[in-house]
Amino acid sequence: MNAYEMVRIAEESVRKVTSFVPDVAIVLGSGLGAFAEEVENPIVIGSDRISGYAKSTISGHLGRLVFGTLRGKKVVIQQGRVHYYEGYEMSQVVLPVRLMCALGAKTVILTNAAGGIDPSYKAGDLMAITGQISQFVPSPLRGENDDEFGPRFPDMSCVYSPRLIALAKEGAAKAGITMHEGVYIQVSGPQFETPEEIRAFRVLGADAVGMSTAVEAIAARHMGREVMGISLIANPAAGISEEPLSHEDVKRAADAAGKKFGEVLKFVVEKM
Ligand code: HPA
Repeated sequence: MNAYEMVRIAEESVRKVTSFVPDVAIVLGSGLGAFAEEVENPIVIGSDRISGYAKSTISGHLGRLVFGTLRGKKVVIQQGRVHYYEGYEMSQVVLPVRLMCALGAKTVILTNAAGGIDPSYKAGDLMAITGQISQFVPSPLRGENDDEFGPRFPDMSCVYSPRLIALAKEGAAKAGITMHEGVYIQVSGPQFETPEEIRAFRVLGADAVGMSTAVEAIAARHMGREVMGISLIANPAAGISEEPLSHEDVKRAADAAGKKFGEVLKFVVEKM
């Protein structure tokens, strides 16, 4: 079975539970899991009920979809994502995003916790993703292509919607939170980067580094969806500060900023 047939089968398993058609898909990164509680009249579907949906093995990541209304918009929220470093294929990593698009979502909002490469970034800041570097991880489009999903060679010259970046900046200003604009680089993990790698990524033009998001953005753009990405800067990347990095610290920083991050997201969803 190819990756697209898997999406269709996953779609059938969701359709056995609900006929809800979302307009907006939101992927919640570390620290933002509680955001799903803001959804009104939620319909929750656990990943174990969705055929082919990989299980998250990481603390702080639930695996489920939450359908409902947020600020008057019909949304589906992916609460907890799966990562390449957990051992899954990229086609499995992006299955939830493709599924949410197949179910109707026209806009995809991706969030994550990331390390700040730009030395001016502080833990707790947000960064609207303006561009990305994904060449350090395999493409989610590798393998057979399904032209009904998108073209074999999709254009990636504008992955992140300038319209939504502007809205995110406006929302951050209202919430009183610093919002940078920058380039996100996805790495495979699970080890954090070395200071040497971070210096190299800086030369390449990256401002923040993480282990998700870019492949999901590719899958959504392949399907012609409008994409927004916001990184929560959880820590200065390796070598930018002297501190060793830990997942616990990342989670703590992400949790601390989660509420304000949520305010920005709600603003964007309302105004989009
Ligand atoms: N590197 C990679 N991924 C991350 C980091 C980091 O420093 N912080 C949070 N996610």
